[in-house]
Amino acid sequence: MNRTLSDAEVKEARQIVNETTEMATETTLLDPRFYTTDFDEMDRIDVTPIREEWDALLAQMKSDPNRNHFKKNDDWDDIDWDAFDPELKRELIDFLVSSLTAEFSGCVLYKEMKRRGSNKDICELFSYMSRDEARHAGFINDALREAGIGVNLGFLTKAKKYTYFKPKFIYYATYLSEKIGYARYITIFRHLEQHPEHRIHPIFKWFEEWCNDEFSHGEAFALLMRTDPKLTSGINVWWIRFFLTAVYGVMYVRDHARPAFHDALGIDIRDYDMEVFRKTSEMSKQVFPITLDIDNPRWQRALDRLRVAMFDMDAAKRRGGLRGFIGRIGAGSRAGLAFAAMYLTPVHKHTPPASSRLVPAY
Ligand SMILES: [Fe+2]
Ligand SMILES: [Fe+2]
Repeated sequence: MNRTLSDAEVKEARQIVNETTEMATETTLLDPRFYTTDFDEMDRIDVTPIREEWDALLAQMKSDPNRNHFKKNDDWDDIDWDAFDPELKRELIDFLVSSLTAEFSGCVLYKEMKRRGSNKDICELFSYMSRDEARHAGFINDALREAGIGVNLGFLTKAKKYTYFKPKFIYYATYLSEKIGYARYITIFRHLEQHPEHRIHPIFKWFEEWCNDEFSHGEAFALLMRTDPKLTSGINVWWIRFFLTAVYGVMYVRDHARPAFHDALGIDIRDYDMEVFRKTSEMSKQVFPITLDIDNPRWQRALDRLRVAMFDMDAAKRRGGLRGFIGRIGAGSRAGLAFAAMYLTPVHKHTPPASSRLVPAY
């Protein structure tokens, strides 16, 4: 039954939308970021050395296999947001908002690349990728709207702070976030296939086809990196090592901030994260000459020290005042040391194959 909202309800709804947008706007060390780069340099990329693989990937993206996927259909179950335990509801919303921000951040970067570029190959790639990310972000936003909240994406584009990264850093960070995104979505999807009783929200049913988009995006960045062998050799291997450490570390800390959410999904956070690291490492051998030694007890202990230090830092920040300030410095240095220990743990070396092409295998 339709009825007109009272002024008080409209005011409340507005406030919730504002708060959620604020949540998505907040930029801390761990939140998904918005990036900008040297678009002219990216525009000069020449895909000739990998032309054959490039054309095959772009033809597949052009065929747009998921064009009808991101629509609610009969599989979409209605959920009663009011019936959720408040803690779980908060963490589920936090998960959705942070996923939406990550999707939308990709969309903005890719769209900008397409807009500023003149290189036909590059513009075509980024138009497909921004198309996909816009769909992903829009679909999550629809789900949030059902909970009576939604993020104002236009506002987010203007309000969020942008971090400048050189193109090569964009390749490392974005390649990893696409592949880790694939690994996360498919791991959750396969788990819920086995345990549908833990599917607390219908959006997870969409993750299988969804993650194939992220998989292709990762393939595209693997090809871009292969246009120039310098990007994955010499000093740059240390940068790759840095990005692997940072991306894995951030994911581990961030997931541990959502215990009720993972508990409801029937997922042990540590096991799940290790599984995602394993899949991501396996895939990244397609282009990176190293993988982190994630099974090394020294690396794992440092990862846990990083988690504890980041949580302490957050608590100190919330405490405020002089004690909070001192606490932040202490926890900050412990986090730095833990990160350094992870970074310096010896790595596995590989020779990437002549062709980087992979197909989704999980
Ligand atoms: Fe996406
Ligand atoms: Fe993506």
